[in-house]
Amino acid sequence: MSADDQKRHAGEAAALRVEAGMVVGLGTGSTAAWFVKALAARNLTGLRCVPTSEATAELARELGLTLSTLEDTPRIDLTVDGADEIGPGLALIKGGGAALLREKLVWEASTRCIVIADTAKVVKTLGAFALPIEVVAFGHKTTANRIADVLADHDIAMPARVRMAERGLVRTDGGNLIYDARCGVIHDPVRLADDLKLITGVVEHGLFLDLADEAIIGTETGVEARVL
Ligand code: 5RP
Repeated sequence: MSADDQKRHAGEAAALRVEAGMVVGLGTGSTAAWFVKALAARNLTGLRCVPTSEATAELARELGLTLSTLEDTPRIDLTVDGADEIGPGLALIKGGGAALLREKLVWEASTRCIVIADTAKVVKTLGAFALPIEVVAFGHKTTANRIADVLADHDIAMPARVRMAERGLVRTDGGNLIYDARCGVIHDPVRLADDLKLITGVVEHGLFLDLADEAIIGTETGVEARVL
């Protein structure tokens, strides 16, 4: 079974957790897109959906889902989103799609969060996937130096690199930049998360700790649920 089939299975299984009338947070990325499609196909009444990116908003709108915002619906019943890595205790790396800030805002406003993924995303230790760090554009090279100092303090020698697209610097939906930190192994995710947040100019990082309540992993045979 391909990774995309596994993502689809996970997205479809998560869509079955949604009930009519719920406020639902919609994640970003290819796995979350399967969830959005499966959710729209269920035609549940009274749903209001808060998207975590412009891309997800566009998909949800095309599929006829009713969109809302965190301003109009500040409390979300259930958020379903993908991840780049799922480690022990459902500690996650997210932000491969550059939507980490809106994702984290929506996750933190949610009563329950389900992370959906293919098996390749499950890891024993976080860090093989480069950790995305969202940075304000003003003075970003200075901020990058301070990020490098923090990384060095965590035995991570490689400085974070600004994410580029064909046309130049990648911009998030909020107009910020993304730096990717090739950590290799993150020995202490909690301390790293705290240290990164203390840097002026860092808006958010892709460590999602103590946020996921459950993981639904698409497997060769179907899906496997892991509760925290
Ligand atoms: C976007 C994310 C995505 O959830 C993450 O990158 C996983 O993407 P995909 O489901 O396409 O593998 O965090 O910012």
